[in-house]
Amino acid sequence: MLIKTKQMSKSFYIDFHTHLLPGLDDGSKNAAHSARMLQNAADQRTETVICTPHFLPLRETAEEFLNKRENALRSLKSELSFGKLSEAAPKILCGAECSYIKSISRYPGLEKLCIEGTSWLLLELPYDDWDDGIFEEIYLLAVERGVFCIVAHVERFHSQIKKCGGIEAFNELDCVFQLNADSFSFLSDRKKCLSFISGTVPCVLGSDMHSCDIGSPAGSAERWLNEQQVKKIYRVSREILLNAPPECVKETWLDTELGLVSAKQ
Ligand SMILES: [Fe+2]
Repeated sequence: MLIKTKQMSKSFYIDFHTHLLPGLDDGSKNAAHSARMLQNAADQRTETVICTPHFLPLRETAEEFLNKRENALRSLKSELSFGKLSEAAPKILCGAECSYIKSISRYPGLEKLCIEGTSWLLLELPYDDWDDGIFEEIYLLAVERGVFCIVAHVERFHSQIKKCGGIEAFNELDCVFQLNADSFSFLSDRKKCLSFISGTVPCVLGSDMHSCDIGSPAGSAERWLNEQQVKKIYRVSREILLNAPPECVKETWLDTELGLVSAKQ
């Protein structure tokens, strides 16, 4: 399948969270399905998709995961006219959605699960109550391993974060928040997302797409965010892909010229 592109004049987006690679998890079922998902992303002006299949550290090693991911990527590229993507089709980068486990900062091979070419890792935090160990592990990952966390769909952890002292608890950590584009569609989740975007921890967007019917970053950003917020998210996203260190990413997020302005009502 050859990815077709539309004439596009508006902004492009970077999708930090997708289950687009075929046959690895509860996302795409096969290469043809993946190609349709990619077409969908292209239609919605996604410039880069980051493939983040689930990685469950207690079920497989990083090496086993990477081998499977490589095979899945090969099969997708073969489906896409033997790897010849048209120029404006989304760029594909690989990463993982790594589930949190205790002592994750000592887990071997995590560096290889970071988004390709970067030291940034998409980390899915636990859904039950949090203890201080989580903050300690995120800190150790950065300091001892040089791995910086992007907290996957952080809006799902709003209540845990509240119990741990609010967003401020993350201020001293070298991390970034990822919000699911689809969460903006529901009023209560949208309020949570907007509270993260108005905060001091840098944010990026992801579709978390498992199929073709999931909202893209473009749809949510343009409907619910103002121009400055969209610009900030894009700049922070680009910096992460250029492997900027957390202090630069944070500086961009807090740039007063870009403005920390309130979200659309
Ligand atoms: Fe996911």
